[in-house]
Amino acid sequence: IKRVTTHILQEMKDRGEKISMLTAYDFSMASIVDRAGIDIVLVGDSASNVMAGHETTLPITLDQMIYHASSVVRAVRRAFIVVDIPFGHYQGNSSEALRSAIRIMKESGAHAVKVEGGSEIRESVSRILSAGVPVMGHLGLTPQSIYKFGTYTVRAKEEAEAQKLLEDAKLLEECGCFAIVLEKIPASLAKKVAESVRIPVIGIGAGPDVDGQVLVMHDMLGITQEFKPRFLRQYADLQSIMTEAFQNYIKDVKGRKFPNESESY
Ligand code: KIV
Ligand code: NA
Repeated sequence: IKRVTTHILQEMKDRGEKISMLTAYDFSMASIVDRAGIDIVLVGDSASNVMAGHETTLPITLDQMIYHASSVVRAVRRAFIVVDIPFGHYQGNSSEALRSAIRIMKESGAHAVKVEGGSEIRESVSRILSAGVPVMGHLGLTPQSIYKFGTYTVRAKEEAEAQKLLEDAKLLEECGCFAIVLEKIPASLAKKVAESVRIPVIGIGAGPDVDGQVLVMHDMLGITQEFKPRFLRQYADLQSIMTEAFQNYIKDVKGRKFPNESESY
């Protein structure tokens, strides 16, 4: 199997082939999504919500991200693996940012890191890139800054914020980022960004005119069912399927139907 690389992702944008990206946090799910043919696996800090049950992405630690990432790395043969640097581990100063990126790369074996923000974290981005670690940017709705914004509503609807976002995207490209995620912004702005930078732009709630799409695996599988923003297309109803399986098992145990003779030694 041929590994997806930053070079291959750039070629995909150049020839107009859309890039597919999903999150994964553990070995079993990562193995399934990789075999399905996904281009990028993101070990997102959404693990804080989906895996750990926190309300925001802020509490997850660097060690926990490395644990998730190393599990994913052991499963994935083809996809390019990106890991979120968690809140508090790159914003403060660029040496800490580099140290965090290096820990993720060394201890998990992933291929790249992702960070939220533009001009504010320019030094950290450059420092990480100077060590040869590919960096994916993330603009628009940046969940690590949720308490600054106060809500999870659409971002950059106003001209000033839209202008800053476009400039941040160009800045991240100049710094040397290999791709940018745009989360929950108007489709027209996302289109403009994707046309204004050469590097791939991956959208989530950013409309169709970008170079690829990303969703949180558990959301698109219908495992998490409380979270239903407009941009989320649910490709399965695993909550129902799993509930039925669990209930059938419970019924069989209680009714002495499991195990049967052929399931016993
Ligand atoms: O953590 C995450 O899952 C993400 C995606 C939503 C882009 O950052
Ligand atoms: Na994230």
